[in-house]
Amino acid sequence: MGMEFLAPDAEYDKLAAGILRLTGVDLGAYKQQQMRRRLQAYLSGKGFSSYEHLLQTLQRNPEDVKKLVDYIGINVTEFFRDTKPWQTLKIHILPELLQRSETLSIWSAACATGQEPYSIALTCSELSGLHRVHILATDVDEGALAVAVAAHYTERAVQGIPVELLHRYFSLVGESYVLTTRLRRAIQFMRHNLLADPYPVEVDLIVCRNVLIYLKDVAKDRIIAGFAASLKPGGYLFLGGTEHLDQPRRYGLERSEIHFYRRV
Ligand SMILES: C[S@@+](CC[C@H](N)C(=O)[O-])C[C@H]1O[C@@H](n2cnc3c(N)ncnc32)[C@H](O)[C@@H]1O
Repeated sequence: MGMEFLAPDAEYDKLAAGILRLTGVDLGAYKQQQMRRRLQAYLSGKGFSSYEHLLQTLQRNPEDVKKLVDYIGINVTEFFRDTKPWQTLKIHILPELLQRSETLSIWSAACATGQEPYSIALTCSELSGLHRVHILATDVDEGALAVAVAAHYTERAVQGIPVELLHRYFSLVGESYVLTTRLRRAIQFMRHNLLADPYPVEVDLIVCRNVLIYLKDVAKDRIIAGFAASLKPGGYLFLGGTEHLDQPRRYGLERSEIHFYRRV
């Protein structure tokens, strides 16, 4: 039976302080058990003997720091992840927003390798509204952002896309499905740390899915309050399938369709 090695708290704290110094990413905001398991897997995978050994190496090699942040980012994602709320977005939320304003500002926060903002762009395009939206897509992980900008996806990655959309918006280049330039141009990608950087303002729709689950309550709280301040009155926040707010009113939000909250 495998025994999980867990380094003492002091070592973890020291590594966390080092990573914060080197990257601006505060591991203290993430649920510790999960983060430790992740770091442990990284350590064994790369043959480090301890957190301290890892930290020493990171201090000497900035490139390794980037790799580690990429690794702990847990950037699993899919096009139209969870399917159903994307129908809600298409049928209820976006038509309402497009009726209200001539142009929309949309923010895909923690967008990983791009599948989420591209799903938004595809949906807007299907509603003939792509020219009326500006989509900002951000993540803390630069490796993931580079994949997003390239917009080359494997056959497996495009599985969630309805066939007619796949034909309309992608071309097959070698073994990759490549998104049309029109869709790629609708999105501005940028590195952004939700725990440290200022948030955009006057946003109509924030899509932030499957990142709050990794965070401790206090960090989550700060981020939701930040989102509420970013949204225009009547704007929407779209959360992940297992994420919900117990008391949305505390942030000036109200429950709307399932997984959506409206700024009061
Ligand atoms: C599981 S993925 C979710 C991707 C996509 N939103 C989805 O639901 O399919 C979580 C993403 O959150 C990003 N992330 C983690 N901490 C972050 C932070 N402090 N600021 C910005 N992005 C962060 C990770 O890099 C990763 O790409």
